[in-house]
Amino acid sequence: MLDGLNSFNQSDIPKHIAIVMDGNGRWAQQRNKPRTYGHKAGVDALRETIESCAEIGVEALTVFAFSSENWLRPVKEVDVLMNLFMVTLKSQAKRLHKNNIRLLVIGDRSRFSGSLRNKIKEVELLTASNSGMSLVIAANYGGHWDIEQAAHKMVQKSLDSNVPISKLNLEDYLSTSGLPTLDLFIRTGGEKRVSNFLLWQIAYSELYFTDTLWPDFDKQDLVSAIESFSSRHRRFGKTDEQIDQST
Ligand code: IPE
Ligand code: IPE
Ligand code: MG
Repeated sequence: MLDGLNSFNQSDIPKHIAIVMDGNGRWAQQRNKPRTYGHKAGVDALRETIESCAEIGVEALTVFAFSSENWLRPVKEVDVLMNLFMVTLKSQAKRLHKNNIRLLVIGDRSRFSGSLRNKIKEVELLTASNSGMSLVIAANYGGHWDIEQAAHKMVQKSLDSNVPISKLNLEDYLSTSGLPTLDLFIRTGGEKRVSNFLLWQIAYSELYFTDTLWPDFDKQDLVSAIESFSSRHRRFGKTDEQIDQST
C-alpha cells in the first residue's frame, strides 16, 4: 500500500480522470437526512478530490455533476442541485483561480437559468489562461448528447469550409476535445454502469468501481483508485510482447 500521493511514478498517474460522483442520496438517507444533505456533503468531497488530483499532477479531472436524465428527479431536488451549482461556483471561483485551475463546463447549457449560464461563463473566463489542472464539470451532460452535438458541428464545418466530411474527425468536435485521452473512469456508490457519461471517451479507459458513497470519497480512496490503475496492463489491442518492446 502506498502511503500517499507523492509515492507514484509519473507513468503511474492517469493524465485524465473522470468520476461519476454517485451515492449522495443514499449517504444522506443512512443518516436520516434529506437527499439534498448528501448533495451538500458531496460538494465537500469534490473540493478535496480536486485538490488531491491537482497535488498529484493529474492534468484533467472530469466530474459528472448532473446528467441529462437527472431532470427526471423531483423538481425540488433539481432546484436544490441547480442552486448548489450556482452557490459553489460563486464561493469557489477565487480558490480555483488561486490554485491555477482552469474550469470548463460541458453539457447542454440551454436549460439552465440565465444567471447560472452567466456565472459559468464568468468563471470559465476568469480561469481560462490558468496552466494547472483542468477541472471539467459535466452538467446537463449526456454521452448521447455529446456525440450528437459533435456530429452537428462537424457537418456544419464541412458545409462551411467545403472540406469533405470524411476528412474530419468527430473527436475534434466532442466537448472534451483538447483534453488528454481519458485514462481512468471511476464510479462511486456501487453501481457498475456508465449512466450515459463519456460514452465515446471511455473507449480505452481503465474502469474502477467502488462501493464508497461519494460524500465519503477521500484522498485514500483516490490513492486506491490510482494504485489499481497503475497495476493494469494496458495493451490497446497489441500483444504483451509488442508493449514490452516499446517500453
Ligand atoms: C449522485 O448521487 C448525484 C447526482 C446524481 C446529482 P445520487 O443523488 O444519485 O445518490 P444516490 O445514487 O441516489 O444514492
Ligand atoms: C449518474 O448518477 C449521474 C451523476 C452522478 C451526476 P445517477 O444516480 O443519476 O445514475 P443512475 O440513475 O443510477 O444510473
Ligand atoms: Mg445515483
